[in-house]
Amino acid sequence: MSGQRRIHLNYFHHPSGCHEAGWRHAATDPRHGLDIAHLTRVARLCEAACLDSMFLGYGYTSSNVAASDMSLLLDPLVALAAVAGATRHIGLVGTMSTTFNQPYDLAARLSTLDHVSGGRAGWNIVTSQTDAEARNFGLDQAPEHDARYLRADEFVAVCKKLWDSWEPDAQVIDKATGVYADPAKVRPIDHVGEHYKVQGPSMFPRSPQRHPLLAQAGSSEAGRAFAARHADAMFTIAPSLEAGQGIYAEMKRLVAANGRDPDAFVLMPGLAWVLGGTEEEARRRADELIEGFVVPPGSLGMLSVFLQLDLEKHPVDGPVPELPSLEGFRGGQHRMRVLYDHVERQEQRPTIRELAGWFANQMRGHGLFVGTAEQLADRMQTWFETRACDGFLMLPPTVPRDLEDFCRDVVPILQARGLFRTEYEADTLRGLYGAPVEERALAPV
Ligand SMILES: Cc1cc2nc3c(=O)[nH]c(=O)nc-3n(C[C@H](O)[C@H](O)[C@H](O)COP(=O)(O)O)c2cc1C
Repeated sequence: MSGQRRIHLNYFHHPSGCHEAGWRHAATDPRHGLDIAHLTRVARLCEAACLDSMFLGYGYTSSNVAASDMSLLLDPLVALAAVAGATRHIGLVGTMSTTFNQPYDLAARLSTLDHVSGGRAGWNIVTSQTDAEARNFGLDQAPEHDARYLRADEFVAVCKKLWDSWEPDAQVIDKATGVYADPAKVRPIDHVGEHYKVQGPSMFPRSPQRHPLLAQAGSSEAGRAFAARHADAMFTIAPSLEAGQGIYAEMKRLVAANGRDPDAFVLMPGLAWVLGGTEEEARRRADELIEGFVVPPGSLGMLSVFLQLDLEKHPVDGPVPELPSLEGFRGGQHRMRVLYDHVERQEQRPTIRELAGWFANQMRGHGLFVGTAEQLADRMQTWFETRACDGFLMLPPTVPRDLEDFCRDVVPILQARGLFRTEYEADTLRGLYGAPVEERALAPV
């Protein structure tokens, strides 16, 4: 064990799992998609294993619905509020876009989740990345990539000001005098910036964490800079140990360069697995999953979304067309880089079907570990101890099966090695991640 440093685990929930074809697997019941009882059961499973948090993605489009249930996403803040009532410790991280929301409203909703959950709220800050979403908000295409991050910067700054607009002792609650709150301690923020004009103050007293835990998952240059300024936790794609070590070193340096404590910044690459009692069994189970991925007509949605290309226009068994240039690309740039690297590594240009299969089976670029629980624990330990990560974004291909396997078989090994908690040591999500609100974060941007 390496001092007090411990692995952090954040589970990424999709009702049938994180594999596009998870819903077709015999072990899943895709009718559970919008069922809050299913979400709650899964949350309790994670909590029994002492995971730091669960995480819900969100996006304003159903472009992939032809062949997968992965875009059936409950509003995370509503769904997580329900989970809060059924759990006590686990952190609740919801994705919300800075491009298609307003800071006053979203700050209030996040504050609500933090109050309702007793200090367990987290916000995965996304800038949204598809034209399909933009077309639902009166635009023809997504705003330009780096401009979205600039807007996000101001958005988050406004939220922080709102969350701080009530002094800690603003609530007087004096029945005798009739003073509920001291107006001198509930102050307007009077924010006037390039994108937002917000008077404030917030409708709420400070929530238990003051600011929800701030997470971020974009790893382009602009994304890394944004994360270094604002994020307490960062989810990323690291297809190899070396890639993980590279982004780890860079992010810690950038966080420190922003005057923040790099040890309070948690980097979590995605991790997907299929386990078996033996390697052969694991391989067989993985093959079952992989065989579930087929390309029915009209179903190249997921890959098309990430490439921002209409792949249906091309023959599925023909070579992958030229990929869009990264320069000025409005979608997720880091994931695009991962796709580029994969295509370039192949001796022959892959067909669309091959690339779609690889993308799905590697959990959209994250990779898929196949082996025994002991081998997975070894791999996690190596990544953690050689500073490729501080923890993992857990991507079980099917749910609940692969998540149950992990909680039952891998967590005890990590605990026995002193790498993971055996009980919850803090009441708030920030407490679990060792990420207090920094004074620096309070300064306006
Ligand atoms: C693991 C992971 C989960 C993500 N979840 C979402 C999501 O739920 N909704 C969304 O709009 N973007 C999501 N994204 C996209 C990013 O947060 C980011 O906005 C996008 O990838 C652009 O990043 P870039 O900085 O690499 O260009 C996710 C990215 C990753 C790596």
